[in-house]
Parts: sequence; C-alpha cells; structure tokens
Amino acid sequence: MIKGVIFDLDGVILSTDDFHYQAWKKLADRLNIPFNREKNNRLRGVSRMASLEIILEGHQYSEEEKVSFAEEKNNTYRELLNNLTPDFVGIDVRDTLDELKNKGIKIAIGSSSKNTKLILSRVGLINAFDAIADGTDIKNSKPDPEVFLIAAKRIGLDPKDCIVVEDAFAGIDAAVAGGFIPVAIGDACAHKKAAYKIDALSDLLKIVGD
Ligand code: BG6
Ligand code: MG
Repeated sequence: MIKGVIFDLDGVILSTDDFHYQAWKKLADRLNIPFNREKNNRLRGVSRMASLEIILEGHQYSEEEKVSFAEEKNNTYRELLNNLTPDFVGIDVRDTLDELKNKGIKIAIGSSSKNTKLILSRVGLINAFDAIADGTDIKNSKPDPEVFLIAAKRIGLDPKDCIVVEDAFAGIDAAVAGGFIPVAIGDACAHKKAAYKIDALSDLLKIVGD
C-alpha cells in the first residue's frame, strides 16, 4: 500500500527546470560552448557542480574558474526566481497535493537543489509538505538515493511504501537504488525502469487508489 509520495521539485512541482536551462544557456553562450535542451536533460536532478562538469566536457578550466561559473549561473537563476509568485503553482498540482493529504498520504519534497526552500517560500508552498529534504541536506546528489532516503525518514516511512515522482533519469535511478516506487513525468518517461509514467500530477491519484 502506498503511504507516502516524495516529489522532486524542479520540473515536477514547478517548471523551474526551464529557469535552470535559461541560466545555464546564458553561461554557455558567454563561454562559446554549445548547449541545447537535449544536453540540458542530462543536468536534470544532478547537483550544480556536476551539471557544470557536464556543460564543460572537453573544455579545460581551473577549479577557481569553475566555482565562479557555478556562482554566476546561480546568480542568473536566482534573478529568474524573483519572477515566482503563488500563481506559478498549477491548479492540478495544488489539487493533487490536497487530495493526497485528504487520503492520509504523507507528502514530501526530495530535491537536489539548494534553492528549494527559497522557491517553496516564494510560491507559498513552504508549509504544504510533511517534510522537505534538499541539496542542503545531502553529500551525494541523484542518482544517489540519499535525498529520498532522508525524505522517507522524515515522514517516518519505509521506501517500499513510497512513490518517488521524477522528471530526471538520475532521479528514477535514485528512486530505484533506494527501493522506492519510481513514477516518471516529462523527460523521465523515456526511462525503462519507471514503474508508472504520468502526464499530469493528478494521475497519481489513480496510482495511489490502485
Ligand atoms: C535539481 C535540478 O533539482 O537541482 C538540477 O534538476 C540542478 O538541474 C540541481 O542542478 C541543483 O540546483 P541548485 O538550485 O542547487 O543549483
Ligand atoms: Mg527535476
């Protein structure tokens, strides 16, 4: 029986994945490094520094330069986050979170992002979840299951009783590695190990009702 749902944030609860893309694109263009949406899919779910390494593949930069590039990207990203308001949360997302809570299912966030709490505050969802685990809690980002295991512990549930909802290949791998039920949305639907593939978050209501 499903007792909990752990949501990734960027690209699942909110379309902030597009802000990540725009911010990386600005940096890549400045450095004259080719970058497109296909390559961006490889950055989904992975940490800021690991994302930068993927963008810089085949290019040599010092550690100091890399740290400054990551900071530059994060500053651009945070400027984009200034556009966030509660209106940014889709009605399907709001209704699904409410319905799951009404069914007595625990809900949590499991995100690699260190901006998670800032984002949830801006859109008015900071108190909407039973627990939040994010990039500030972990040593290893997805595909390591650490962030999901922390989230499960915080809601007091065993991974086998929890769904993980992910738009990232790395996130589905992390869910499988942690013993969770992996549910894919968006880009992650192409992942062979997804137990379910959904078009909208409200499709979860059918899965938990199974
Ligand atoms: C994940 C995104 O949620 O967070 C990644 O999918 C991103 O693209 C990662 O790199 C880290 O985010 P942040 O906000 O800490 O740079
Ligand atoms: Mg994501």
